[in-house]
Amino acid sequence: MSTESSLEGLREQALAALASASDEAGLEHWRISFFGRQDGRVTALLRSIGNLPNDEKAKFGAAVNGLKAELESAFEARKDALKRTALASLTTEAALDVTLPGRPQVLGRLHPVTQTMRDCLKAFGDMGFRIAEGPEVEWDRYNFDGVRIPEDHPARDMWDTIWVNTLIDGKRKMLLRTHTSPNQVRVLERTPEPPIRVVVPGKCYRQEATDATHEWMLTQIEGLAVDEGVRMTDLKGVLYQWARLIFGSDRKIIFHHSYFPFVEPGVEMAMDCFICRGDGRDCGTCHGTGWIEILGAGMVHPEIIDNAGYDSSKVTGFAFGIGVERVALLRWGIEDIRNFYGNDVRFLAQF
Ligand code: FA5
Repeated sequence: MSTESSLEGLREQALAALASASDEAGLEHWRISFFGRQDGRVTALLRSIGNLPNDEKAKFGAAVNGLKAELESAFEARKDALKRTALASLTTEAALDVTLPGRPQVLGRLHPVTQTMRDCLKAFGDMGFRIAEGPEVEWDRYNFDGVRIPEDHPARDMWDTIWVNTLIDGKRKMLLRTHTSPNQVRVLERTPEPPIRVVVPGKCYRQEATDATHEWMLTQIEGLAVDEGVRMTDLKGVLYQWARLIFGSDRKIIFHHSYFPFVEPGVEMAMDCFICRGDGRDCGTCHGTGWIEILGAGMVHPEIIDNAGYDSSKVTGFAFGIGVERVALLRWGIEDIRNFYGNDVRFLAQF
């Protein structure tokens, strides 16, 4: 048999085998049979070129290389054709229209109270406050005694406490913190010397009859600044700046005198009611006052400063406790605080 006819025979066999390869596995089998490095039939021919006498080398080499190129491009064409057929059968057999746009993924978002808390922390961060944290399950000595609310003090009634039932020395001493103020003591205790400028965010819990502005779980941000020469005007300046950043400058703010055992003097800051705009008449949201209280604040009581090992004749401080849900209510004009934890996605998706 002449070289030409044996090459032609191989060519026909290869093309026929390729035409009957109907999937990826078949294609791979074909590739190994003809081009496999070990036993491929075309590979063997290519290898044999080197052993031929010089006068046959050029002609045979050209013929085998021509065959190689032809089979390689036939292989690529078959591969493409199979791919296209597979795609076409996917759209008809599985009734799948691959040209349809994808389904949008529903993205989650931050809870409005979390957004508000982060915005507040950013505002205080820009004023030089760093963030600290404290435990939600707290000792009564931090939640109450450390902030000058001893066991028999009537101020304990202001914070209807959810106690942990475990008895220690016959007494319940652990509770779900009712406010973030225990962190005033915690931060003072662990900071050897002033200055202190911290904000402490976190959840607090109270046995509270809920209404439009009261929840039994609330978020507070405690603020504490302690240094030589800290004054009430510094407190007001910081809170005004924060309120301007969060609410804009067209909202009205008022400071009232107030009592908290851990500050002297003590104040409450309130904002004009977003429902009645300060009018108060028949307004259920502000209970007819025209104002909604958003935080308590004051100058840290000298006893707390001394108890932490500082000298209150030199060092003074201010503290505040912001109700973050109240801030969120005022910010977006939400009528009822209970919406925040009602788990209604239609409500939450608006923010
Ligand atoms: C306190 O909790 C004090 N620890 C605040 C403080 C800190 C005063 C530092 C002085 C110095 P009060 O109980 O008023 O205070 O709560 C503070 C804020 O938390 C309130 O102004 C209000 O915005 C919010 N708040 C209080 N109770 C609730 C509640 N049940 N639901 C929602 N927000 C509340």
